[in-house]
Amino acid sequence: MTGMPLALLGGSAVRARPFTPWPAGGREEEQALGDVLRSGVWGGYHPVVQEFERALADLHEVPHALSCANGTVALEVALRAVGVGPGDEVIVPPLTFVASAAAVLLCEAAPVFADIDPHTLNLSPAAAEAAITPRTRAIVVVHFGGHPAEMDAFREIARRHELKLVEDAAHAHGARWLGTPVGGWGDVGTFSFQAFKLMTAGEGGIIVTRSADVAAFCWSYCNQGRRPDGGWFEHVRLGTNYRMTAFQAAVLRAQLRQLPGQTALRAANVAYLRQRLRAGSGLTFTDDDPRADRHPHYLVTLRYRPESFSGVPRDLAIEALQAEGIPVKPTYPYPLYRNPLFRKESGLLARHHWHAPQDYETLVLPEAERICEDGIWLSHNMFLGDHEDVDDILLAIEKLQRHAPALLASRRAAVPR
Ligand SMILES: Cc1ncc(COP(=O)(O)O)c(C=O)c1O
Repeated sequence: MTGMPLALLGGSAVRARPFTPWPAGGREEEQALGDVLRSGVWGGYHPVVQEFERALADLHEVPHALSCANGTVALEVALRAVGVGPGDEVIVPPLTFVASAAAVLLCEAAPVFADIDPHTLNLSPAAAEAAITPRTRAIVVVHFGGHPAEMDAFREIARRHELKLVEDAAHAHGARWLGTPVGGWGDVGTFSFQAFKLMTAGEGGIIVTRSADVAAFCWSYCNQGRRPDGGWFEHVRLGTNYRMTAFQAAVLRAQLRQLPGQTALRAANVAYLRQRLRAGSGLTFTDDDPRADRHPHYLVTLRYRPESFSGVPRDLAIEALQAEGIPVKPTYPYPLYRNPLFRKESGLLARHHWHAPQDYETLVLPEAERICEDGIWLSHNMFLGDHEDVDDILLAIEKLQRHAPALLASRRAAVPR
């Protein structure tokens, strides 16, 4: 098979069938949705919402979980709950989705980017500590790709500097660090149930915490500033309606039951890929820290070495692998601070009550820059099948390596002189 020309050069692809589709709902979700439909209670006050909250709180070993509309508002409300507001600085990683920093901006506070650890791709505790100033109020730690961040180190830093610790666990349902589930290490943690997440209702979010005060604030803020025992028209603070619907909760309750089995299956298939990926394959795993004793593998990030592929640039290699039926993707195009949102022209920064604590336009955080240049993503659903799926990934990589000179030559010939 690897002797055949690359699919990009007219050969047949390694793989014609798709990987396990995602999202994937089955009979359990259908039944749960039907129950809500027939109940006539479709909004956030159906008992299934609380039932789901209780089940997720149990999984993450925290006393409180409060569902909401999505992961972005979960993070915004969580930051408000720990007191983040105008004039504050909040340390965030540069390798994350925009929401991790946008939630800070929505609270009219300023994100301060600190570099990542090159092994786990999570915020580096040392870099985060070096970025602390007298204005720092909180650290947002993202468990990137599902790999838990070094929470014991972050907890110690937060304690020493009297900072709030917020966990963005949008990628990390069920993850554990040193035996303790993520979400409960910090003052507050948040999850997303957006369409491609490990558990999904199309949209959705949840806030988890050990603090009764944080939980009470979050509930009230998401429920128009009501009191838990107050009247429907009694509003004790400014809030909004960020409630999750009963339809979302019903689907998520079903998906929570499937999560442990799916997590184990992904872990076994990722371990198989790790074991079979040859040292000279030109693709290397970012490391799993042994203290991450449950890693749900939302994303598998591999580093690409062009020299092992006769100099084929990463993006062309991705194109070739996709043509072989392997839907790999490049990592983010650049670290978050390089996004147009953080340029002066966006106008957004001028509207806030602070002077930008960093010059985002000239900022360079080397490890974040490097992974945006050499990283390749494989998504979680690619590991919900069997070893044959992984064998196809390996075969396509081998084929690309073998035919890389021909691929380069064809591209050179296509360039008009
Ligand atoms: C790391 C991270 N945080 C927050 C979010 C925001 O979640 P949502 O899309 O549910 O608003 C996402 C992505 O969707 C994410 O990847």
